[in-house]
Parts: sequence; structure tokens; C-alpha cells
Amino acid sequence: MPRPTQAFIDLSALAHNLTIVRQYVPRSRIMAVVKADAYGHGLLHAASALKDADGFALLELDAAISLREAGYRQPILLLEGFFSIEELALFKQYQLSAVIHHSEQIAMMSDSKHHEIDLFLKINTGMNRLGLAPEQFPQTIKELRENQCVNSITLMTHLASADDPLKQERVIQQLQRFEAVTKEYNHPRSLANSAAIIRYPETHTDWVRPGIMLYGSSPFPDKTASDLNLQPVMTLSSKIIAIHNLKIGDRVGYHGLFQADRPMRIGIVACGYADGYPRHAPTDTPVLVNNQRSRLLGRISMDMLAIDLTEIENVELNSPVILWGKGMPVDEVAHQAGTTGYELLCALAPRVEKIALTQC
Ligand SMILES: Cc1ncc(COP(=O)(O)O)c(C=O)c1O
Repeated sequence: MPRPTQAFIDLSALAHNLTIVRQYVPRSRIMAVVKADAYGHGLLHAASALKDADGFALLELDAAISLREAGYRQPILLLEGFFSIEELALFKQYQLSAVIHHSEQIAMMSDSKHHEIDLFLKINTGMNRLGLAPEQFPQTIKELRENQCVNSITLMTHLASADDPLKQERVIQQLQRFEAVTKEYNHPRSLANSAAIIRYPETHTDWVRPGIMLYGSSPFPDKTASDLNLQPVMTLSSKIIAIHNLKIGDRVGYHGLFQADRPMRIGIVACGYADGYPRHAPTDTPVLVNNQRSRLLGRISMDMLAIDLTEIENVELNSPVILWGKGMPVDEVAHQAGTTGYELLCALAPRVEKIALTQC
């Protein structure tokens, strides 16, 4: 029998979450964000469930090509654009769209000549990550409109704080900057990530770019995925591979961080940080064992973790354990470990077998 640590990818949940996005933005086109191997879910599995999306966005060129070769005909947007003139030829060959965020990319396009590329021109409205400064915009768009290498131009920006209920004024400021810079130009626009799709209808422009909500995790600290009617897509599961009885004073795991203050029964689960489980998850982080809520004990090892079975009924060797997913929200585990659902999903290790489920 193989090691029992597996990630089940529920494709019908992914398709359901896409319909939820559609309900928020009935008049926008949806660019499903599938970077980082579809947030750890497996690119081609995820794309098959998202086949009704109007486009895909990611930033790995080889992954973009594999999507095209798999037969997807929608626009495929590279969120960091291209890095060299050589790559531009591939953009043309595979009809990939590129984010343009600095003038060197425009120089590369001019040097390469006649690659009719669809561009998303990114404006830095306050996040200070990627994008042209607002002052650069008028000259840049003039040049791009005259550049024969350009097929179409969409104007975009990225919002830094749409997920933070206390930072509404920052979102408004970014939107005002975007409007001030672009109002004279009649190009399609793209502004919204998941949080903005849900909280800021004014960002529902020609294209929206949902990522995390497609995968069934909430972008917000104050709303759960189920509050938003999103279904978990990845369920990370394993089994109990050892059981021990502890006496008062016995310690568990590296450095004995957990010490029993009463007689206890514990289970060892075949999942550790080399599988992508967060090493910083503390004692009491929830897990599901045989469909009952239990908790971690002590430090996470590379390949294993310990859980409390003292109050759990009907557990034995090989009883199933869910680390996150169905019945155990990834956001709850992430919160306990001081991180986000994004990080946990993306960090799923390659050694964990992914099993796509079409019917659940
Ligand atoms: C430019 C851009 N657009 C959209 C997204 C999707 O964001 P989210 O996963 O929060 O929906 C991302 C993800 O980080 C991004 O970098």
C-alpha cells in the first residue's frame, strides 16, 4: 500500500465556485487565476473544471503553453509578462497575452517587431509591486497605441487591501487613482481579485481575476468560505499509522513540546511539513479524525504529526484523518498556524499524490 497522504481535488466544487463568481459578476468576463499550479491543485485538473472561464491568468510560461496545448482557446494572460525577446516569439506562437508593467518590456517588443500581442497594461495605483507610475501612463499608452506589435490593450491594476474590512479608504484611493489616469481612454479594464469581486461591485469591469475564491477559501478574515457559499476544493487527508497511550508527564515529539497532564491516547498521522503541512501549526490546531474534531499535539515533524485521540471514539490504526478540506476549513488551520489559506494550498508538496474527483 502506498503512503496514505493524499490530496483529493474536488472538481465539481471548483466548478461550483466558478458559478458563484459568475453570480457576483454577471456582466464581466472571468479570468480564472491558475498560477502556482492552480494554487497547488494541479493546473490541468483545475483548468478542466474551469473550462467555462473566459480566460486564464498565471505567470509560468511553460504552464501557459501546456494549457494552450491541452486545447484551451480562451485568452491566457501572463501576469508578469515576458522577460526576454526570445520569450516574445512564444507569446506570438501560442497566442498568449502579456501584462506590461515596465518600459523595458515595451523596448523588447519594439526590438522584436511585428508580434501582435494582446497586452494588459498595468498601472501602479498604490500597491507598489508591479505597474507603471501614473505619470508614465500617458506617454506609454500613446507609444503602445502606435506600436504595430500591439494587438489590443486592456488597462489593469491590482488592489492591495480589498480583503481588509478596515482598509476601505485605501481601496477607494486606488480606484480614484486608476480612474484619474485612465478616464480619457476607451480600453477594456481589469481590477478585481476575489476580495474585490465580493466586496466592491464598482471594480466589476470588463475582466475580473478571481483566484482564491475559486479554490474554496475565503479572502477575508471576517467571513468564512461557507458564509460565502464557497466549497473546499482540496482535501488533504492521511491516516493514523501509530497509536500510543501516555502517562501523566510523558512528552510528545521533537523537544517534547507537549506534555500530558493526564493519561492520554495519541495517534501519529502520516503527514508533516515535507507534505506541506505548516510546521508552525501549534498544539490545539484542529484536525478531523474519523469525522470527529481533534487537535494537534506538539511539534510537526517532517513526515508526521501527533493528534489527541483521548476523547475520540472508534479510532484505530488506519483511521482516516483530514488535515484540511471537507469538514475542516483550510482557513481555520491557516489561522491557527499564523498564515493564510493561500499559503497552505500553494505549499502542498509534490510528493503528495493529487487525486481528481469528478463526482462527490
Ligand atoms: C495580479 C493578480 N490578479 C489577481 C490575483 C488573484 O487574487 P485572489 O487569489 O486574491 O483572488 C492575483 C493573486 O495574487 C494577482 O497577483
